[in-house]
Amino acid sequence: MENKNMKLSELSYKYINLLETGQKYMELMNKYRCAIMEVETKLNVLNAEFSMQYDRNPFESIKSRLKSPVSIIEKLLRKDPDLMPEGMEESIEKNLYDVAGIRVICAFQEDIYSLADLLIQQDDIRLIRTKDYIKNPKPNGYRSLHLILEVPVFLKSGKTPVKVEVQFRTIAMDFWASVDHKLRYKKNLPNEEEIVEKLRQCANVIAGLDNEMQEIRSMIETGDQRQD
Ligand code: GTP
Ligand code: MG
Repeated sequence: MENKNMKLSELSYKYINLLETGQKYMELMNKYRCAIMEVETKLNVLNAEFSMQYDRNPFESIKSRLKSPVSIIEKLLRKDPDLMPEGMEESIEKNLYDVAGIRVICAFQEDIYSLADLLIQQDDIRLIRTKDYIKNPKPNGYRSLHLILEVPVFLKSGKTPVKVEVQFRTIAMDFWASVDHKLRYKKNLPNEEEIVEKLRQCANVIAGLDNEMQEIRSMIETGDQRQD
């Protein structure tokens, strides 16, 4: 097999060039872009309703991204070693669930689950997979709720389902994840073990903090109800 004899970097380079110049790829990326718009709109609608009814916003911010061609090809070659240039777009749709990515940052943990539930319940959304790293944190301390959703996008040619990865986390979890992300790009640090351990401890402190913040909000809300 030609693929197996080529160095990954050469192969990636060849595929990235082919992918980026293709019309089919542009159309596929447009579908993912539209799917992001659909899910963002759904989240914004929920936010607007919450702020009208309860005078609070369930999320602080949303960040979206399309996976870069380099990341797409590298992940695809790991998942589909027999990948052929003519089948790249089909393989992307079949094997990658995170080409369209949305990150929802909430102040409180409780809002993560309310928002996720309200989204999943909508009848045009299909839940493909849930990974709850809040209830089951990763060994390094990573916490977030990940959903893979399928949402319909209405194009000229008709309705087509598109996969989107939605990550929900608190502001504190997001702070932790961004510091952890920096570590991932630094290879061969002499004190790596110590850093990993410190990060794990910080993740625990953050989890405690998130719980306390949640408690404070519940106390404020109970106080509010007593006054009414
Ligand atoms: P990926 O190939 O990483 O997408 O694996 P997966 O499909 O098994 O997904 P998983 O749900 O475990 O993680 C997907 C995404 O979550 C990653 O691309 C990161 O954005 C984020 N993530 C997962 N684990 C960590 C972590 O330990 N630290 C940080 N900073 N982010 C993480
Ligand atoms: Mg990913």
